[in-house]
Amino acid sequence: MSTDARTGPAPSPTGPLSMIDYSERIPNNVDLAGDRRLQRALEGWQPKFLDWWKQLGPALPTKDVYLRTAVAVGRDGWAHFDYVPMEEYRWGIFLAERDPERTVTFGKHKGEPAWQELPGEHRADLMRLIVIQGDTEPASVEQQRVLGNTAPSLYDLRNLFQVNVEEGRHLWAMVYLLHAYFGREGRDEAEQLLKRNSGDLDSPRILGAFNEATTDWLQFFMFTYFTDRDGKYQLGTLKESAFDPLARTCKFMLKEEAHHMFVGTTGVQRTVERTAELMKKHSTVDIFEHGGIPLSVIQKYLNFQFSVSMDLFGSEQSTNAGNYYSSGLKGRWMETRRKDDHLLVDEERTMNVVENGKIVEKTVPMLSALNLDLRDEYVTDCEHGVRRWNQALEDADLSERLYLPHEGFNRGVGTYSGHHLSPQGDVVDEATWEAARSQWLPSDDDRAAVAGLMVPEYEAGQFAGWIAPPQIGINEQPVEFDYVHLKDEGLA
Ligand SMILES: [Fe+2]
Ligand SMILES: [Fe+2]
Repeated sequence: MSTDARTGPAPSPTGPLSMIDYSERIPNNVDLAGDRRLQRALEGWQPKFLDWWKQLGPALPTKDVYLRTAVAVGRDGWAHFDYVPMEEYRWGIFLAERDPERTVTFGKHKGEPAWQELPGEHRADLMRLIVIQGDTEPASVEQQRVLGNTAPSLYDLRNLFQVNVEEGRHLWAMVYLLHAYFGREGRDEAEQLLKRNSGDLDSPRILGAFNEATTDWLQFFMFTYFTDRDGKYQLGTLKESAFDPLARTCKFMLKEEAHHMFVGTTGVQRTVERTAELMKKHSTVDIFEHGGIPLSVIQKYLNFQFSVSMDLFGSEQSTNAGNYYSSGLKGRWMETRRKDDHLLVDEERTMNVVENGKIVEKTVPMLSALNLDLRDEYVTDCEHGVRRWNQALEDADLSERLYLPHEGFNRGVGTYSGHHLSPQGDVVDEATWEAARSQWLPSDDDRAAVAGLMVPEYEAGQFAGWIAPPQIGINEQPVEFDYVHLKDEGLA
């Protein structure tokens, strides 16, 4: 969760409180009952979603989990906490309240009323944006499917499941838009969102980072820190969209997303705290044998997850991104706080490129470089977490520090792809890259050693040895609260 004064925390929905109707089969605050056709279509999709959840959702059998469920969309009191059997979680459709005065704030439609209907000329582009966003939501649930088997505590297990059910709800959010505004094509795309699967060779998820396996809990924390944060930034651009239903949907999703990043920030922090403690206690950096994860391995995990998440922003220069902006489909991060004309037609900026083995700056039209604009905002945000984690090392009187690798390190997309850069940003040749690779990225041995520490700890208030307990529990419950009832618990 970012508390940066410049970008601020995830924006909260504003306006009047809108209660969610839980008497409906599909909880919603969009008056679904008023549109029988749409309601029936979504009720037809619901069992397919539940089948998907059963097959590819969390694998660990549980009785119930202490989860939050949205009860209202508004400033306060939006969430209710209680024990819920996960398959009975009330996934629904929640949009931030409509502001009838809302206008488009950027691009050639600037100043016009926000669109309540889908403009025909932008139908294909908007559907593409929604499908790509929608595809990432169930993908992460699939990636994290077996993590429950090695949870370091019930507290962490509960947080994993909270993230999972909310990513499921984000899928619902996108599927609602597809069904409500894109007719038959939209319904087909909604089906496909359940048919593509993370890592599936024949029918993979659309984006690379969502086909990587989440091998262990350190990677899960890095994922929620770096990859969910990419999600935050993408949602931040869509919440500016002239297409009002999309903007309102993303506004509420951002509110849920904040918890996912909290899980990442504090998860890595607690890992680093424990690592620092073991380093001091045993006066060595090689703490695998003492039950902790060496800082060098944490750095390699960080290098990996940061670099694959950077790829999610796409090429630095993109004609599509410029067109999306000019047409009003997708704004910039914190669009309304930017001090410029919000048209950007004559603006320029610099970007880095590799030329003759060196990084040089070139000047490019701003409109062509909006992916880079967003990625820069993201990097600034990522630095806050690293600072926080380093504080834990400083507090332990250790001189070692974590850092973000160079933007060109290990990149598969954009201007750096096709070049090898070290984490420090030196352009290196193939042989150097291959020789140093296992010092920069997790090797199979590293992953195996981390996996060796991943023993489940299902006793309330107990924590696996590689991670420190959190400072506080969830929803003001104590850390030792019984956050998850496992399936076989009652029989013991
Ligand atoms: Fe999400
Ligand atoms: Fe998320």
